[in-house]
Amino acid sequence: MRSTRGVSIWPVGFVGGRSYERPLVSGGKVVGWYTGWRPDRPFATDMAGFAVNLQVILANPRALFKRRGSQPGMQESDFLKQITKVSELEPKANNCTRVSNLCCYGNRL
Ligand SMILES: *[C@@H]1O[C@H](CO)[C@@H](O)[C@H](O)[C@H]1NC(C)=O
Repeated sequence: MRSTRGVSIWPVGFVGGRSYERPLVSGGKVVGWYTGWRPDRPFATDMAGFAVNLQVILANPRALFKRRGSQPGMQESDFLKQITKVSELEPKANNCTRVSNLCCYGNRL
């Protein structure tokens, strides 16, 4: 998490209708999503599954994480598409193969 240069991403447990949800990574890049729910979401991730470098926020002062007004489950996608592209995401947690929600909050990724 601390090494995030732009926007980083990792798996999250107990969301998306599965025991975990995760980005599918190939060659160090996110190429799709493993999820039980709405795989058509541009960024099929939970809000516990990504970090944004402060410089990205400062460079996109109009970007909004909406509390209301997003379709169900689209809050993350609505936000992330304003500041990054799927191809630019930085996979953490060993190319998104490890799931540990507690770890995310401990800054260990
Ligand atoms: C992630 O995958 C890339 C490309 O296959 C590889 O170069 C890199 O070492 C991997 N990272 C980790 C932490 O395993």
